[in-house]
Amino acid sequence: MSKIKTVFQCQSCGYVSPKWLGKCPDCGAWSSFSEEKQDPRALKSSNPRGSAEAQPLSKVTGGREKRQVIGIKELDRVLGGGLVNGAITLIGGDPGIGKSTLILQALSKIAEKYGAVLYVSGEESPEQIKLRAERLSIDSDSIILLPETLVENVIAVAGNMRPSALVIDSIQTVFTEDLTSAPGSVGQIRESAAKLMIFAKKSQVPVFLIGHVTKEGAIAGPRVLEHIVDTVLYFEGDRGHSYRILRTVKNRFGSTNEIGIFEMRDNGLTEIDNPSELFLSERPVDASGSAVIVSMEGTRPLLVEVQALVSPTTFGMPRRTSIGVDFNRVNLLIAVLEKKAGMHLGGMDVFTNIVGGLKIIEPASDLGIIAAISSSFRESPVNSKTCLFGEVGLSGEIRAVARSETRLKEAAKIGFKNAIIPKSNAERLKTDFGLNITGVKDVEEAIEHIRI
Ligand code: TYD
Ligand code: MG
Repeated sequence: MSKIKTVFQCQSCGYVSPKWLGKCPDCGAWSSFSEEKQDPRALKSSNPRGSAEAQPLSKVTGGREKRQVIGIKELDRVLGGGLVNGAITLIGGDPGIGKSTLILQALSKIAEKYGAVLYVSGEESPEQIKLRAERLSIDSDSIILLPETLVENVIAVAGNMRPSALVIDSIQTVFTEDLTSAPGSVGQIRESAAKLMIFAKKSQVPVFLIGHVTKEGAIAGPRVLEHIVDTVLYFEGDRGHSYRILRTVKNRFGSTNEIGIFEMRDNGLTEIDNPSELFLSERPVDASGSAVIVSMEGTRPLLVEVQALVSPTTFGMPRRTSIGVDFNRVNLLIAVLEKKAGMHLGGMDVFTNIVGGLKIIEPASDLGIIAAISSSFRESPVNSKTCLFGEVGLSGEIRAVARSETRLKEAAKIGFKNAIIPKSNAERLKTDFGLNITGVKDVEEAIEHIRI
């Protein structure tokens, strides 16, 4: 009898090895290998639409995807303007952040507009889902619950029913009978997702996969899934805040880095239409160490407060902590302030924070971080009607950023009076949006203007 061929696969990144290893050479995880059956079918054609045919690009018809507008604006935005038929979307996030809540709210809208939907739950019983639905005031004959974990059965039911959307909550609980490994292992997640993808592409039913995030911050069985699916959305936000941010990490049907902002209330997730006003609502007036930056999140401008606290170090090594902004970036800016603006931060602890639990990755926030740190260092507040944006270079120069007009327009709308922006941006402006705009060319000049 021929032996079944098995391989060892890293459960955290999917790396495959012919023999067991203690440490994964790819992601560095320890004791992460488990034995999986090697699936010979994996080598066959993987075209989800059946037979492949070579054809010239000009002969390909269609090309414009059909979209269902869900009716939750913030969700439609991150999806790129609605749900694409046959698209497979992964929603990842920490346990308890609100994935099931969001999906139930979305399903209720989809069912109302486009007909019955199928909600497959391997995690919660129909009774538990009912309790949540009551809390959200959702009741519908068109939301069909299926407590099933075998992916072949799910596809059979969905194939007969042809729902207007299919949800798998969560992908870690489903498994395929083709593999012997436990649900939640990389092999199972990948195979199940692949089967669901084939179903989605053939039937044109949009599919949502819900995925948990591991302690390290990646969706379990992560890299394998991100390649398969069309869209990846991450749910961010911390327990201490009621804001929840849904961020597009990958989208074959729209732009990435779009964000949708929600607030978790007693009766579910509520959309936030005017996030800038919300994030600035508790801003202390004329306190030092606070500055407002205009950041672009995808296509949307967002005004947020960055705070800094600079205080003398009590133990030898100065402490540097940053929340919501890149730690290395802040260290770099501190070095620029020391060298180019003569601020002696070497003996100071520096803490920086973005208010509201947001994460800002854009370099355009540099100027705001500099303003907050120097304001705290000098104990002199930044004018509360002033906002800033600009990238800071290593020689202290302030570099132009993209979309300066969109940013200024939003700042004016919120009620700001002054803006400190890169000189080269200021020179190219066609209108000032009623703002008093100061173009600055280096850090020193910027700090001069912040002081007023
Ligand atoms: P849930 O959607 O179950 O999270 P996930 O599926 O991501 O694990 O959300 C659970 C949390 O949300 C829980 O702590 C309770 C809270 N919640 C509200 O605050 N208001 C609500 O209306 C609902 C349904 C949940
Ligand atoms: Mg859940």
